[in-house]
Amino acid sequence: MPKPAASARDLSLPVPPAEWARWVADWYVRHRRDLPWRRTRDPYAVWLSEIMLQQTQVKTVIPYFERFLAAYPTIEELAAADPVEVLDLWAGLGYYRRARNLHACARAIKERHGGRFPEDFAGLIELPGIGRYSAGAVLSIAFGKPYPIVDGNIRRVLCRCLGLREPPSEPKLWRLLERVVEHPDVASRVSELNQGLMELGALVCHPRNPECGACPLGECCTARVRGIQNEIPAPGRARRSETHHYTVAVARRGDTFLMSRNNDGSFLKGFWEFPKVAGRLRGKGMIEAFAETHGLRLRPLRRLDVVRHQITFRSLRFHPGTVALENEPDSLVFRWIRLDEPGYPKSAYVRKIADRVSGRAPDASDR
Ligand code: ADE
Repeated sequence: MPKPAASARDLSLPVPPAEWARWVADWYVRHRRDLPWRRTRDPYAVWLSEIMLQQTQVKTVIPYFERFLAAYPTIEELAAADPVEVLDLWAGLGYYRRARNLHACARAIKERHGGRFPEDFAGLIELPGIGRYSAGAVLSIAFGKPYPIVDGNIRRVLCRCLGLREPPSEPKLWRLLERVVEHPDVASRVSELNQGLMELGALVCHPRNPECGACPLGECCTARVRGIQNEIPAPGRARRSETHHYTVAVARRGDTFLMSRNNDGSFLKGFWEFPKVAGRLRGKGMIEAFAETHGLRLRPLRRLDVVRHQITFRSLRFHPGTVALENEPDSLVFRWIRLDEPGYPKSAYVRKIADRVSGRAPDASDR
């Protein structure tokens, strides 16, 4: 489809695009961090890293990325993997839909493309979990093709460089970078430009107190020239977090714990958890709630400190306590599981509670 011609309402850079892109790409070559996914151009590894890096910090991702590639060195092996095993390897990274989409995407690439990553935008964008950002990242970084990317870091770099207090619409930002990467003098360096913009956002153009003296765009950056770099982005109104309380019953038998698979929650679906009920309950109320919800007759033993866990805008507060069981749990629902038992993915919050039970983490109620 022919692209519309540039219009006066389009955004424009403060210096010619080829020069601007060269400053960023040259800076990237000299200052980039040595990260495991930057040692390869394998589209599978590039794609895996980009999915893992969405909403997650580099230092958190590195060990997951390495474990994942060791377990599934190729997309074919990921496609053939047991979905529970994939979730198990992902456990702790959060945003679990990514893991499910990752697996679905690997299967789709195997079935529709014979296990080879499509090298065109149309082929990539129709795959599960791949949007404009991931498609642009794979095309530019793995295949050296002229596609832009825009994420939160890049949006901040652009807004400052253009001196925009109010962020422009997303399509305007994409269009601006599309015109840059399609410039004949930039096209061969799009991988360096895209990664350079991400790296600038991560290392120099911080959300607060950017290090403008170290920035290759410092000379041309409108925000810096006007001294308003700390006013961009304008402090936003954060989405109000919802707090949810749960009472958690921890029953132990040797080195195993009573757990069931979360099937119907709106979060942590597919993960194994201790029996829990909504609310912060004690004594009789707690006993009745577990009997009614789970058919468990229990006797509370020792209350443990609250465990906090954040899932996007939800603040979860788990109020755990050890319990003795006075009936046999429904064996279709409950199992006795070791914490490190493979095939039973567990969220980080379950591990935190288990650590408290076994005294590995401090617990205020012990003091
Ligand atoms: N954030 C998103 N993609 C990234 C990448 N390739 N390297 C570092 N940080 C990133």
